[in-house]
Amino acid sequence: MNTLLLCDNENDIKQAGEILRNGGLVGIPTETVYGLAANALDGAAVAGIFKAKGRPMDNPLIVHIAEIGDIERFNLVADFPKKAKLLAERFWSGPLTMIMPKGSAIPDEVSAGLDTVAIRFPEHKTAQAIIKAAGVPLAAPSANISGSPSPTSAAHVMNDLNGRIDAVVDGGECRVGLESTVITMVPDKPRLLRPGGITVEQIESVIGAVDVDDAVLNQLDENAKAASPGMKYKHYAPKARVILVRGEGYIDYVNKNAGKNDAALCYNEDVEELNVRSFSLGNSEDIDIQAQKLFDRLRQIDGENVKTVYARCPKPDGVGMALYNRLIRAAGFEVIDLEKL
Ligand code: TXA
Ligand code: MG
Repeated sequence: MNTLLLCDNENDIKQAGEILRNGGLVGIPTETVYGLAANALDGAAVAGIFKAKGRPMDNPLIVHIAEIGDIERFNLVADFPKKAKLLAERFWSGPLTMIMPKGSAIPDEVSAGLDTVAIRFPEHKTAQAIIKAAGVPLAAPSANISGSPSPTSAAHVMNDLNGRIDAVVDGGECRVGLESTVITMVPDKPRLLRPGGITVEQIESVIGAVDVDDAVLNQLDENAKAASPGMKYKHYAPKARVILVRGEGYIDYVNKNAGKNDAALCYNEDVEELNVRSFSLGNSEDIDIQAQKLFDRLRQIDGENVKTVYARCPKPDGVGMALYNRLIRAAGFEVIDLEKL
């Protein structure tokens, strides 16, 4: 299959919409990461997503809409809880995904057999225009081969999926760079399943206290049942071994322990002082930029034959919770605590 590289002009967006309406697969930009989209109401089209990504069929997909009214118009949910409506009013469009009881229009391929469905209204204008051009809601996981870092540019999508999907729309670099916040609105007290650009603090300011699922910051027991199937899979796994280094003394530790084929995933201020290959996430104080750059840096490192990466460990609050959540998975939960050495 020849994968078309489309631009974000009117004509190309119309073409992407047509491909999607006809059951095809298109990589689309969003403010979080690129998605691999198909018509969410067409089970056969959605099945193609799993095949192209090599994604396990028991991992459900997010349904993307272009206005809040799409939820009712297409029968996407069986219930739109009051707290979910409050969050929708405040944070949509934006990087927030809400899980609700699924409506009659949702094929089993989307929900992976669960009785719930994840809904997101992306803020990216091109994403909204493509959903409108398609005329249907779009199911879309991140547009990477299963297990590799999520794509934050059209080039990343091409690297992973060229020849396996119909088209990619280039909408530039993603603003947030990490996947959306996922929260389940089904229990009375909503529970965060995946941290992202909309923080726990922001959510709690609208609906009061929420739970944070154990799997967000900790490693699940092998036998524990994941609330979100995606959390049980090894994720964001670069080829190199990644070790998070926490606490004072990062520079000295890395300079002492890193070998010739090792590297540092660090901040701008560290680069001069380190005597190993360095990949910087940005300024130490700019957590938004660090989040935006993470996946691109992991992909760069993959291209460079690095054996072990010593990564700075972010503080897990605000957007830092999302960054920490992705890094700790990339590291397979391997952390060196300098304070405890
Ligand atoms: O930012 C994003 O959310 C991106 C862009 C493309 O929108 N999409 C994305 O999709 O990250 P994906 O499939 O890579 O991650 C969706 C996560 C998975 O961990 C999945 O298990 C979980 O959401 N999920 C989806 N539906 C669910 C449901 N009904 N119940 C529990 N978890 C669900
Ligand atoms: Mg993904």
